[in-house]
Amino acid sequence: MYLGLDIGTSAVKALIWDGQAVCGTASAPLQVATPTPGASEQDPEDWWRAVCQACADLKGQAGWDAISAIGLSGQMHGAVCLGADGAVLRPAMLWNDNRAEAESAAMAEALPGIGARAGVPPMPGFTAPKLAWLARAEPETHRATAMVLQAKDWLGYRLHGGFVSEMSEAAGTLWLDQAARDWDDAALAFSGLTRAQVPKLAEGTAPAGGLSRDAARALGLRPGLPVIRGGGDAMAGAVGVGVVQPGRAMISLGTSGQYLLASDRHAPNPERLLHSFAHCLPGGYIQMAAMLNGAAPMAWLARALGRELPDLLAAAQTADPRHTPLFLPYLTGERTPHGDPSARAGFQGLSHGTGPGEMMRAVIDAIAYSFADAQDALNEAGLSADAPLAIGGGARSDLVLQTLADVLGVPLRRPAGADQGPALGAAKLAALGIGATALSDLATPPEIGAVFTPRADLRHADRLPRFRALYTGLKEVCARP
Ligand code: XUL
Repeated sequence: MYLGLDIGTSAVKALIWDGQAVCGTASAPLQVATPTPGASEQDPEDWWRAVCQACADLKGQAGWDAISAIGLSGQMHGAVCLGADGAVLRPAMLWNDNRAEAESAAMAEALPGIGARAGVPPMPGFTAPKLAWLARAEPETHRATAMVLQAKDWLGYRLHGGFVSEMSEAAGTLWLDQAARDWDDAALAFSGLTRAQVPKLAEGTAPAGGLSRDAARALGLRPGLPVIRGGGDAMAGAVGVGVVQPGRAMISLGTSGQYLLASDRHAPNPERLLHSFAHCLPGGYIQMAAMLNGAAPMAWLARALGRELPDLLAAAQTADPRHTPLFLPYLTGERTPHGDPSARAGFQGLSHGTGPGEMMRAVIDAIAYSFADAQDALNEAGLSADAPLAIGGGARSDLVLQTLADVLGVPLRRPAGADQGPALGAAKLAALGIGATALSDLATPPEIGAVFTPRADLRHADRLPRFRALYTGLKEVCARP
């Protein structure tokens, strides 16, 4: 039995995998704070409380007493700053925190060639510009920072007391030389840091440490239990559904969105804002279009209208096309393909006949159109996906996946248990890490629950170009002075 823990943005997820099937899951919600415009923060103590709560819920389920290793996953690109005593100095800055816009531009200028080395050009959500922002905005905190960790590596520190990470998580900081699979001293220096302030690197399947007495007591597990390093959520999600061999593809529809292919080499394509990142498996890589908005606009609309998501999805099924507006999904700026932290969401074309169902239909179309942009970026880089696997909360909806298949013109496959996501990959990495399973076992294709075959839908032939024109037309309006 293997325990996978994933620190998502909206929840911590915990799952038990028995080597063949998932036998228990639990989750505990998280909130995101936006204390100032562009900020996106969480308190790591809230992550810990949520981990304890999710594990308390799992304890009653089958397999808990037989757990033999723990694997970790979590939201990427963040910054948890620790002082010399290991205490958290300020709230964690998350992957969708856009404050480091000026620092991101400065990094691109100071380090020509960083896009190829780090696998993607600087954008404000990555860790390196965040730390440069901290040096300017909160210099005392920057001076006091003895260690910078990602969410799951901070959880690792709480579990085993060590400062360790692995390649996929380091890949998302802009501090990794992807080809060398080692920290890049020049990139660290741009953020005012040295190697002493970042964790020790090994592959995602390497041991991280043994569960400490305190953590074992808090979670109700045995001290010394092996903790395996795991992977960033995009890569762990890929491991969960067997996207471990070159060419296999996955679409993830969570709070963020990814369209990625596994690869066996570092092949950067920075001009298309693709992310060529180390995978969490030894020597592996991924090519990824990464969207900041994913399926989040659906949850946003439900919240804004005070409606339940399933009701809105049902209303969208019968939306009147004559009154369905266009929607731009950029609630929090966008990475691929725009690299535009100032982009914002909006409806265009509301009329008296537009109701909640039409608005939801517009949001679903917009999510599909943003994946069409992602697919174009991949295709332009010579990469194409054959029947990608679709995972994440947004993949639960048939309407969403059918719309995506129609717009992308490729069949989409939804594996059974598609919404288990990165926690399943983390549990599989735990099994791999202790030698209980082999990489070839993890490459076994998952059981497919449903296939969505593209249909000709002429609405999109008209709407997709207008969606693109809307972003282009509004770009300057959204740009901050
Ligand atoms: C990947 C990405 C997301 C975040 C948050 O580039 O931004 O996977 O890790 O989920």
